[in-house]
Amino acid sequence: MGVNFDEAIERRHTNCSKYDGMTASFGRNDLLPLWIADMDFPVPEAVTEAVKKRTEHPVYGYNVFPEGYYAAFAAWTAKHHNWSSDPSWVCHTPGVLTALSTAILAFTKPGDSVLIQPPVYFPFQSTLEALDRRVLNNQLVYKDGYFTIDFEDFEEKAKAATMFIFCSPHNPSGRVWKQEELARIEAVCRENDLFVFSDEIHSDIVYEPSRHTVFASLSEWAEQHCIVAMAPSKTFNLAGLEMSHITIPNKERREKFQYLLRYGLHVANGNSFGIPAAQAAYERGEEWYQELLCYLQENLDFLDKALRERVPQVKLVKPESTYIPLLDMSELGIDNQAMSDFLIEKVGAALNAGRTFGPGGERFMRINVATQRANLELFVERLEAALKQG
Ligand SMILES: Cc1ncc(COP(=O)(O)O)c(C=O)c1O
Repeated sequence: MGVNFDEAIERRHTNCSKYDGMTASFGRNDLLPLWIADMDFPVPEAVTEAVKKRTEHPVYGYNVFPEGYYAAFAAWTAKHHNWSSDPSWVCHTPGVLTALSTAILAFTKPGDSVLIQPPVYFPFQSTLEALDRRVLNNQLVYKDGYFTIDFEDFEEKAKAATMFIFCSPHNPSGRVWKQEELARIEAVCRENDLFVFSDEIHSDIVYEPSRHTVFASLSEWAEQHCIVAMAPSKTFNLAGLEMSHITIPNKERREKFQYLLRYGLHVANGNSFGIPAAQAAYERGEEWYQELLCYLQENLDFLDKALRERVPQVKLVKPESTYIPLLDMSELGIDNQAMSDFLIEKVGAALNAGRTFGPGGERFMRINVATQRANLELFVERLEAALKQG
């Protein structure tokens, strides 16, 4: 009990992107780091113990996944998402994006059209472009501080697509898709025989009263026509250990995916530290995880209130999921590049620019609230001062 998420941790000089890679992205290294999606918090004690224990043996050769590894993941998803994937359906990849590339290569051809819903996690678009696939944008609708799906457009675009990359929950809108939205999406995908890559990496970071529903659990059709991509990286702050869990219930699809992973891309081995770390997190990380959710919710409440009281021109788009919500800065009346410049030069803060998430992102900046509350206080204080200065 009692993780102190308020305690600052010095992350500089640990080769971390957020601090040590800031200059490459922002031109300086002295900004409040409120960008890239990892957390400024220590992992659960059980994870540290498991990694330490592994270091006691001095050989870090090739790995297999121990008995119990996938059972631990299945138990976690059964408990938290009311969905038990069969452990034999799950493939390892070093990341969800590796799985995305593999799926694109395995299940589409160059020139095929793939549907995405911007503003959305920007590597969806860049991966499709790098692999010579066409991007079809079903832009989300933003109204009264809330994002929804333009279903008419979705139905139209689905006719021309071979695959749909679904972000569920959605980064950066923070939406947790409701049952009726999911049912409509499933129906359109079924009608058009679309294969669905359901990126559910943020599914554990969901705030009350929202509930995440796993795409594969929607129907038998959905189960046989999707990949569900999950990972302990966002949930337990393990991105640097490169572990993710890719569930493919359909046998033929799974075998094709695994063949490509093993013999074409050679990325199926697993990481000597990631394996014990992920298993420990799923088996013994529950208490830490519950405390994390409370702290994140309090950070969101704090930020929302502080902005309303002190900087009402900037609005938090209240997320139902993720610790990387959007700030609507459109009332400042400047373009997205100017918002980035203002935050860097006048506020001294590094946030992700909304425009990088594609069409519909231009009025926003994305902030990472998985940090000590004092950093959010400092951000609001500096933002207020900078706006007063004009
Ligand atoms: C929606 C989404 N998918 C995938 C990733 C990256 O996953 P990985 O590091 O496992 O490739 C992120 C990281 O922020 C994300 O937000």
